[in-house]
Amino acid sequence: MKADNPLKEYLEEMKKIEGYPHGRDEDILELSDPPHYTACPNPYINEFIEKYGTPYDEETDEYHREPYVGDVSEGKNDPIYNAHSYHTKVPYKAIMKYIEHYTDEGDIVFDGFCGTGMTGVAAQMLNRKAVLSDLSPAATFIAYNYNTPVDIDAFQEKAERILEEVEEECGWMYQTYHFNTRSSDREYLGKGTINYTVWSDVFICPYCGGEIVFWDAAVDKESGKVLKEFLCSACEAEITKKECEKSWVTFHDKSIGQEITQAKQVPVMLNYTFDGKRYEKIPDENDLKLIEEIESLDIPYWYPTYRMPEGYNTQQPKKSHGITHVHHFYTKRNLLYIANVFSHLSKKTLIYWFTSAISRLTKMYKFMPIKKNGKIADRRTGNVSGTFYIPSLFDENTPLILLKRKINDCQEVWKHNLFHNLITTQSITNFDETQNNNIDYIFTDPPFGDNLMYSELNFLWESWLKVFTNNETEAIVNKTQGKSLIEYSELMLQSFKEYYRVLKPKRWITVVFHNSKSSVWNAIQEAMMKAGFVIANVSILDKQQGSFKQVTSTGAVKNDLVISAYKPDKKFENRFLENAGEGMEEDFIRMQLDNLTPTPNIERTEKMLYSKMLSYYLKHGYIVRYDSSEFYEMLRNTFYEADGYWFADSNQLEQYLEYKKKMKLDGIVGSAFAAEKLLVYDEKTAIRWLYDYIEEPKDYSTIYTNFTKISNIAEDDIPELKEMLENNFIFENGKYRRPQSQDEELTVRKKREKELVRDFNTILLEAKNSRKKIKSCRNEALVYGFEMLYQKGKFGEILTVAKQLDKKILERNSEVRDFIEIAEIKTGNY
Ligand SMILES: C[S@@+](CC[C@H](N)C(=O)[O-])C[C@H]1O[C@@H](n2cnc3c(N)ncnc32)[C@H](O)[C@@H]1O
Repeated sequence: MKADNPLKEYLEEMKKIEGYPHGRDEDILELSDPPHYTACPNPYINEFIEKYGTPYDEETDEYHREPYVGDVSEGKNDPIYNAHSYHTKVPYKAIMKYIEHYTDEGDIVFDGFCGTGMTGVAAQMLNRKAVLSDLSPAATFIAYNYNTPVDIDAFQEKAERILEEVEEECGWMYQTYHFNTRSSDREYLGKGTINYTVWSDVFICPYCGGEIVFWDAAVDKESGKVLKEFLCSACEAEITKKECEKSWVTFHDKSIGQEITQAKQVPVMLNYTFDGKRYEKIPDENDLKLIEEIESLDIPYWYPTYRMPEGYNTQQPKKSHGITHVHHFYTKRNLLYIANVFSHLSKKTLIYWFTSAISRLTKMYKFMPIKKNGKIADRRTGNVSGTFYIPSLFDENTPLILLKRKINDCQEVWKHNLFHNLITTQSITNFDETQNNNIDYIFTDPPFGDNLMYSELNFLWESWLKVFTNNETEAIVNKTQGKSLIEYSELMLQSFKEYYRVLKPKRWITVVFHNSKSSVWNAIQEAMMKAGFVIANVSILDKQQGSFKQVTSTGAVKNDLVISAYKPDKKFENRFLENAGEGMEEDFIRMQLDNLTPTPNIERTEKMLYSKMLSYYLKHGYIVRYDSSEFYEMLRNTFYEADGYWFADSNQLEQYLEYKKKMKLDGIVGSAFAAEKLLVYDEKTAIRWLYDYIEEPKDYSTIYTNFTKISNIAEDDIPELKEMLENNFIFENGKYRRPQSQDEELTVRKKREKELVRDFNTILLEAKNSRKKIKSCRNEALVYGFEMLYQKGKFGEILTVAKQLDKKILERNSEVRDFIEIAEIKTGNY
């Protein structure tokens, strides 16, 4: 390490790296704490890994794990988790379970979309080291503070002293006169301290043109509700907020030397404490005078005055309230106070304490009325997360109260900070300077399409840090940045390629996926598979039951998902490449089965194994030699089966049977054993559910009743239940049962294939003869038909159908897209 200025000398080199933030050299250096944390790409990553990690040695490596499928507690009510907010977070307690399962003490965990660094917190708790990276300097700054030992007492002493000093200078701004409201002459009793002040929008009545204070007209003081329709205070016309224009005011903003026009907002209620008791009151003359006086003051301290960047979220406050610059988010009073606090902050711990509080000190803190002891109070629900939304009624929170509380919150975090993890600020799309095969496990929570615009949302924090996200490679869907799903998918692919490269072979990556569109879900999965990962398990957190359910890797999902995937063994990869996949089908399946838990895992079913093999081959552009019947033949000749699940060897099969026996002892039998762990949302999962459920023969009406209870099928065109039963099971003595012999298996298979061919031919015919887009069709038939055409080399026909398919069908079916992509390549039609 370069001793005197360990980062400065590297800065020019670091500037060439993707994701180098926007900011002046001195500000980047000031914010950094090398070698552990740099507010730019960190030149010490390899040094850190060399020091703490273990090099990968193919010859001696004996690592083996199956995917983690246990339940994960939520952990969202944890003081560490809550100490510093972020737009989305994964509780570190949940991450700990994964790290514990996949790694050993001393291993190195990596998260390239680290946000607040919860992966690092989890790693610390388990004595593992972590490398954490994010594009956003605000994120890495928070992550740094979550991952660095701190002298708690020194921090407390300093923070309290700062508050004392600032309070002495600025405390008067939050005082209000308290009167005895019971006495007729309103006897003055002393000064109270304001907890929060409610401010209200002012509208213009479309009928009389008079001003309407939203609070006065729309908040029903009796019920504590905000009315949709209310009466103009002057002309009594019935109006809604939407019908009204806002009242606007223009003023000279000295700090930027510009005329600014903003929506008028006025104080309407105070919540204050006097003699240990809380009170509410309408601001009186003194309160209004006080605010007026503050408005006329100059702020003698530095505070950020940057113009808000163009973007998706930043448009909203501009349009609704004329908020164009970052300091406009604060009332003058709060800006003065916090700028004074900031002027005292020299240490990074103190700045973290500051950033943990400031979002709640803006005009974004929404007032939500509730009736308490006969009076209107606020529910204290806070900002609308993931936005810059300025509500019509907001709370101006008193900074002292929040900053005091945050001292304790910070200390709570730092009690657990044991050692330094390594934190870098850069894009995971290019991690070139980090060597291959040196990370033991990856836990990551990437951005999901257009869910959250991190670089915009982090601007508020970054403006105080004076270092900003370079959003060129930010992996989001955002019009202003010119990024559609295509650009997003490409950035995801680059990111997962880097993840793949740095991870040791046979190691695991866990990706959490939040509620989002199926197209985004597919983009993530595709990126993972194209990068080379093999997905071994996809679970969905069933929030109602608090447990994980298995899902297949296609289809639309509306919940939080956890994807477990592994990087194949190096030898396998090399052989696979040398032979272009030829004769490797068995090896592929064996590797996959070896990496699955010996439980009723849907990934062990023939359909899922086939689909995994198919996509792996297609993604590598190799010839698929097996059709599904030949594939089944291969499974039967090579592997072991029970209950429709396949196992690599007799040992695995035995483990499964043991597991089943144990479940039976615990009273979990039949349908509850496997079927209830499955989310049913397409034909594949439906048939698998039926298969599990019909362990014993059952009549139609019993099946029907239970199937409709669990079925969640929305987007896939699938056959009627009756048809699925007829084509996949044997009907005997008024009941349906599973096929039992090889002959029965064959009969069922033939029947099903015949029916798939019939349905595909209908699709093909429609595509050839009609110009209309095909809006819905049976996915299984489409895949089956494409598979037939692919094997016959009829790529043109695949493209003929593809052209007619509606975008939605393509978006949700990654298998279908795989075929189209490869057909385009084969025909030179891309
Ligand atoms: C879902 S958040 C991660 C939150 C994190 N799991 C936590 O608990 O705080 C995704 C993060 O990805 C970051 N990001 C977006 N594009 C990136 C890129 N190309 N490279 C690295 N980080 C990126 C965003 O700044 C954001 O912090």
